[in-house]
Amino acid sequence: MGILEVKDVNKRFGGLQALGNVNLSVAENTCHAIIGPNGAGKSTLLNCLVGKLIPDTGSVMFDGQSVLGRTPFEINQMGISRVFQTPEIFGDLTVMENMLIPCFAKRDGSFALHGIRSVFSETGLREQAEQMLEEVNMLDKRHMHAASMSRGDKRRLEMAMCLVQKPKLLLLDEPTAGMARADTNNTIDLLKEIKEKRNITIAIIEHDMHVVFSLAERITVLAQGTPLVEDTPENIKGHPKVKEAYLGEAA
Ligand SMILES: Nc1ncnc2c1ncn2[C@@H]1O[C@H](COP(=O)(O)OP(=O)(O)OP(=O)(O)O)[C@@H](O)[C@H]1O
Ligand SMILES: [Mg+2]
Repeated sequence: MGILEVKDVNKRFGGLQALGNVNLSVAENTCHAIIGPNGAGKSTLLNCLVGKLIPDTGSVMFDGQSVLGRTPFEINQMGISRVFQTPEIFGDLTVMENMLIPCFAKRDGSFALHGIRSVFSETGLREQAEQMLEEVNMLDKRHMHAASMSRGDKRRLEMAMCLVQKPKLLLLDEPTAGMARADTNNTIDLLKEIKEKRNITIAIIEHDMHVVFSLAERITVLAQGTPLVEDTPENIKGHPKVKEAYLGEAA
């Protein structure tokens, strides 16, 4: 039994079956990659795991509890943090101010921005935020405005904002998309470090196979909303169904 258990999940958008009978089991403290061509339903699946979408049918259990019917914030409190496909940070705030948001939310149970402004100077929260920034090698950038940073640094900040909440499950939607190779390699190193240092389960959606094969212990291949195959990276490499999913041809 995995820490995350997705059973028979279906999700339609009007006439489009975005997810069809999706089953997924993610073992605790492993990195599980979900790969598949554009439009395969990968982000839709992640949205169903964090309460952003509600599946039409099926169940999603995390750590023995259903996530369905809970708000994204409640799911976050259960120990699931997520880095979105499009970076979701406050560009006009500094790196430090962005970091204080999850620190504050974890303590006070709310994301109200007016409340966050009033705690920007609180030493306890600042220490927490600074410690996390140091762990991801961003402390020297704490006074920079988030909007002015490289894509790689924005991603790193987002990951730090997730990690400071000490999640049991970290969900990453294409964390290296649009990154230069050097930033991608830095992200791989950071995720490896996170895996080694913390008791954490990672589910990652990724198109870059170098990233997938560097990190994942299990891989699920999704195509047209349905898992085609789930296996180890060694067995996935060159698997005919993977070729079929990406190239539209049976090998
Ligand atoms: N809110 C929505 N309303 C209608 N259709 C949607 C919605 N969200 C996604 N879709 C459609 O559902 C399908 C799956 O989309 P999804 O974003 O999950 O794919 P993906 O695998 O994440 O693709 P990509 O690799 O491009 O990010 C696509 O055909 C998409 O157009
Ligand atoms: Mg997507």
